[in-house]
Amino acid sequence: MSASESHIDVRSALKQGLAQLREAHIPSHTLAAELLLLHVLGRDRTWIYSHPEEKISSADADRYFALIARRAAGEPTQHLTGKQEFWGLEFEVTPDVLIPRPETEHVIEVALDRLAVREHRAGSKQARTGEGLQIADIGTGSGCIAIALAKELPGATIYATDISSPALAVARRNAARHSVSAQIHFIESNLLDQVSSVGARYMVPSRSQGTNPQLHHPPVTNQQSPLFDLIASNPPYIGRREAATLMREVRDHEPEIALYGGEEGYELYADLITQAAAHLKPTGILVLELGHDSLPAVQPLLDARTWTNVGVTNDLAGIPRVLAAERA
Ligand SMILES: C[S@@+](CC[C@H](N)C(=O)[O-])C[C@H]1O[C@@H](n2cnc3c(N)ncnc32)[C@H](O)[C@@H]1O
Repeated sequence: MSASESHIDVRSALKQGLAQLREAHIPSHTLAAELLLLHVLGRDRTWIYSHPEEKISSADADRYFALIARRAAGEPTQHLTGKQEFWGLEFEVTPDVLIPRPETEHVIEVALDRLAVREHRAGSKQARTGEGLQIADIGTGSGCIAIALAKELPGATIYATDISSPALAVARRNAARHSVSAQIHFIESNLLDQVSSVGARYMVPSRSQGTNPQLHHPPVTNQQSPLFDLIASNPPYIGRREAATLMREVRDHEPEIALYGGEEGYELYADLITQAAAHLKPTGILVLELGHDSLPAVQPLLDARTWTNVGVTNDLAGIPRVLAAERA
C-alpha cells in the first residue's frame, strides 16, 4: 500500500458513510452517501459498484468523512457537491440559490406545451426553435428555468430577473456553462420592474449613440406595448408561518428570499400576475409554479376579462403545482 492509500476500500467507506447518515436520520441516506463518495472520487456510480475493493487514499477518505459529517449535521448534499441536475442539465448550486427541484420541471413542460399549441393555432412552426420569441423568467435563482428554456428554444430571447444579486451571479455562471449566455439577459429587479428600462436600452439607441454592437438583441418593450410571448416563474411561495415545519436542510440552508413569499406564502402572486398582464402580448402565456396549498388563493387572481385557457397541472405527488393561463 502506498503512503497515500488508506486502509479503507470503496465498499467499507460507503458502508460507514451511510451508517453515519442513517444514525443521523438523514433522508435518502444511501443516495447521499453514494453521491458524496462519487463527488470525492470523481467517479461514476458504475465504477464504484464495479470496484468495491479498490483502496482509496487517506486524503480522499478524510474529505469523504468530513462531507459525511457536514451532511449528518444538516447541510444539503447539493451544497456539498455544488451541483444539481435539472431538465437533464447539471447546474451549479451554492447557498445563494434555491436548489432546483424536480417539480419545477413541470413548469418547463407546461410552457413548451402551451407554446406549441399557440403556434399550431397560429399556423406557424415557430415553437420548434422559438425563433423570435420573447420570454421572461421571474425569480431565476440558479437560472434553471431560463436556461432549460434557452436550450429547448434556441431562437428565443430570454429576460431572467432576480432580486438577489448573488443568485444572478450563479445564474450567469450556469448560462455560461450551458453556452446560452448570449440568449439570456440577467437583470437585478423586483419582479419585472427593471425589465422595461433594460428593454428600452436595447430598443432605442439614440442617434448620438450610433450603432452599439452591445445592443444586438431585438426590441422588447416600451411601457405602452405588451412584450412577452411567455412569462414563467417559480416565485418564493412558502409561508413564514410554516417555517417550523420545514426540513432543516431547507430552513437553515436555503436563502430566505427564495423560500418565503410572506406570512401566508402566496403574497407575491398578486403583483406577479398584475405585472404579467401588463407585459404579455395578447395570447401570451403565463406559467406559475404553486406552493402545495396556494391554488385556492392564486387561481382567483386570474380574472376572466384578462385571462383565458386557465389550466392546472398536478405534480407526480398529485399536488396542483403549475397554474397556466393565456392573456386574453
Ligand atoms: C423559489 S426560488 C426559484 C428559483 C428558480 N427559478 C428555481 O425554480 O429553482 C425564487 C427566486 O425568486 C427570487 N425573488 C424573491 N423575491 C423576488 C422579487 N420580488 N423579484 C424578483 N425575484 C425575487 C429569489 O431570490 C429566488 O431566486
